[in-house]
Amino acid sequence: MKIAMIGTGYVGLVSGVCFSDFGHEVVCVDKDPRKIEMLEAGQVPIYEPGLDTLMHKNVEAGRLSFTLDLASAIDGADAVFIAVGTPTRRGDGHADLTYVMAAAEEIARTAKDYVVIVTKSTVPVGTNRKVKEVVAAANPALDFDVASNPEFLREGAAIDDFMKPDRVVVGVETERAAKVMEDIYRPLYLRDFPIVTTDLESAEMIKYAANAFLATKITFINEIAALCEKVGADVKSVSKGMGMDGRIGNKFLHAGPGYGGSCFPKDTKALARIGQEHATPISIVETVIKVNEEVKRRMIDKLLDLCGGSFNGKTVAVLGVTFKPNTDDMRDAPSLTIVPALVGGGAVVRACDPQGRREGEHLLPGVDWIEDPYAAARGADLLVILTEWNEFRALDLPRLASSMTTPHMADLRNIYDRDDAKNAGFTAYDGIGRG
Ligand code: UGA
Repeated sequence: MKIAMIGTGYVGLVSGVCFSDFGHEVVCVDKDPRKIEMLEAGQVPIYEPGLDTLMHKNVEAGRLSFTLDLASAIDGADAVFIAVGTPTRRGDGHADLTYVMAAAEEIARTAKDYVVIVTKSTVPVGTNRKVKEVVAAANPALDFDVASNPEFLREGAAIDDFMKPDRVVVGVETERAAKVMEDIYRPLYLRDFPIVTTDLESAEMIKYAANAFLATKITFINEIAALCEKVGADVKSVSKGMGMDGRIGNKFLHAGPGYGGSCFPKDTKALARIGQEHATPISIVETVIKVNEEVKRRMIDKLLDLCGGSFNGKTVAVLGVTFKPNTDDMRDAPSLTIVPALVGGGAVVRACDPQGRREGEHLLPGVDWIEDPYAAARGADLLVILTEWNEFRALDLPRLASSMTTPHMADLRNIYDRDDAKNAGFTAYDGIGRG
């Protein structure tokens, strides 16, 4: 099969590389000359474990290439995937479809033979039908189908998620398009990974509903955590005991400083907006969005307590600024709410993150960047664990505590135990939901 992939962001690049690893011929297209130049030079513009090795392997095998020229990428392609950004539109919370529609029009202008136009970007229900209208209007003679193929990969685990998915979702209208999609995903399908084939609208809805459900699950446990603190329960035990019920499941039940990232905040807002537009508000999702903001603010109160009521003049070491480990992505990261509150309150903030510094230097002004967690903690009044990077999971706690001026710890990912922290010399420890 020949595949054209439009957009070399997270989803586009990972999908393109993985499809080429299935043995398909893949051409990735982007409008950004800088990105294409980097990719052609063998550099991966994003941080994603394992992606560079897989990309080099498939480029060397001659199955994967990069171009600015959409026409050459589409020439002879069985399917063209749209994997461009759908950011939250300013003002109304809707997903901005400008890039998706521009890609659709460009495909219409350049395609010559039958092609399946597949939307991989997360798009509101009804978008695939709009793509179909736009393409048909721009090139009435073109023989094509549309397909919705939402992606469920997580940053930091993207390749594994793509190669071993819980399921692949495909929304189609014709047998012909279904067959093309089946051929594309054959390597997964042969290994018994399930493919859910449905209509366009249901496929679009599955993606939003899945992300909103996961964000709800996290927010639920975050609220339970707040109550645990009041009643003297430990949310780690609570989520373990709940998660063992097969109907609930133990995943996405870890209390933390609030969800962030490029997807949950954007997709929950978009789903809430779609509901309002159809006079069917999804109240639970609207509440989740609001509560998640409160969760982040609650973290600031926690830190304030550990600093004795004021940040002024305190030195705070923050371990982790990315929205989760194994990524350099800081979009909607809790650090963007918490760190400015520390800096604004007069604290000296030292941040340490294995991949976050490049973005963080722009997004978090007034912060000192320190590579080594021990150096960051030396002389500090508070140690905050904000992102659970593996590098921070097995720190030498006695060494940290003995080097701090005031050995206080805010473990916002619950990766340590209160007793261990106390035995190591921390005079105050607070986690999430550990009453
Ligand atoms: C999420 C979904 O998990 C993917 O299935 C989906 O494909 C992707 O969005 C997308 O729509 O593209 P991602 O945003 O990469 O993936 O990261 P997650 O691992 O889902 O984490 C999201 C946020 O939830 C992070 O801030 C994380 O710290 C937080 N989280 C996650 C918790 O606070 N507790 C948990 O138990 C799990």
